[in-house]
Amino acid sequence: MELQTIEDKDYKGKRVFLRVDFNVPLENGEIIDDTRIRAAIPTIEYLLQKGASLVIASHLGRPKGKVDPGLSLKIVARRLGDLIGKEVKFVSDCIGPEVKKAVESLKIGEIILLENLRFHKEEEEGSEDFAKELSSLADCYVNDAFGTCHRKHSSVYGITKFFDNIAAGYLIKKEVSALSKLLENPEKPFLLILGGAKVVDKIGMIKNLLDKIDTLITGGVMAYTFIKAKNWEIGDSKVEMEAVPLAKEIIKEINKRHLEFHTPLDHIIADKISPDARYFATERGTIPHNWIGVDIGPQAIEEYTDCINRAKTIFWNGPMGIYEIDAFAKGTLEIAKAIGKREDAFSVIGGGDSAAAVNKAGVADKISHICTGGGASLEYLEKGTLPGIEVLKK
Ligand code: 3PG
Repeated sequence: MELQTIEDKDYKGKRVFLRVDFNVPLENGEIIDDTRIRAAIPTIEYLLQKGASLVIASHLGRPKGKVDPGLSLKIVARRLGDLIGKEVKFVSDCIGPEVKKAVESLKIGEIILLENLRFHKEEEEGSEDFAKELSSLADCYVNDAFGTCHRKHSSVYGITKFFDNIAAGYLIKKEVSALSKLLENPEKPFLLILGGAKVVDKIGMIKNLLDKIDTLITGGVMAYTFIKAKNWEIGDSKVEMEAVPLAKEIIKEINKRHLEFHTPLDHIIADKISPDARYFATERGTIPHNWIGVDIGPQAIEEYTDCINRAKTIFWNGPMGIYEIDAFAKGTLEIAKAIGKREDAFSVIGGGDSAAAVNKAGVADKISHICTGGGASLEYLEKGTLPGIEVLKK
């Protein structure tokens, strides 16, 4: 079944319900990264050009069904308006008579952003009544919220059955095209770089990719969990104990397939996780008692750079250490720079931290594709599709 996209549909004079993922990071009430807002602009501009008016909806954070003024989308309406140079109206709820009245007065070419969908608990519950109510606001439905497509929430999943005209926007199309390239005939050698925490959540994706990759390199909590699985010493480094048996299973599968597999040859270790910690590089891949692994060491950087230089396809998810602290950021930034130099390879970055690292290293424009959804991209690579994408197929 084929994904229906906006290019296949007619929007002349239509009011479109456009689901986007404007779940942007906020600090002191300010948007600190508007990548996700920018990512929706091609779809917004296309629909307007085709003669539509837009009712845009999103979630922001996890307000758990309660109104939280700190998670209002009003600030996002302003930013979107600045970015597209056009007024973006805002309404302080996403359902109800006031919302109905506001959307009914929209003229062709106008945009309104609804208030945070998750202020209603029904959204995350996947309520059908809530989906129906949202659907009554428009004539057709477009989903461009790739980062939310792994959730069976009302505005992503249940809502689609109330429309005849449904389609994916450009962002979903782009994300699906990049991720499916990793799953279907990736050019070899295929290198998987895994770091960060949430090891348990990544196991399904690793298992699915084992038949496609040639090399796996690891850093961060991911590496410490594999090192623990090998029964090596990891000192006081953070490890996910519940993932250790799964890591053992993966090592067995890797050996069965004769894949190249690396945990760091050396580490940066610290006496505490703090900018004023004492720290140094180990000589080998184990970590002494009372010390904490905070980054990969110089030998590991060299070895991993060599793996990156040999790869034709690269997928990277998760930092190599505690990169938020400058002293422990070198491994992550060197990996980002090494990938950035491989413009001849197909490189995909998944996950907010790795995306932030390529930005910080100044190489974002050298990467083939940076996913806008961490959880969604992992689940896509595990299952080959997502619930919110399946419902957009013919
Ligand atoms: C994300 O930030 O990954 C998406 O917006 C989904 O958010 P959620 O994990 O709160 O469902």
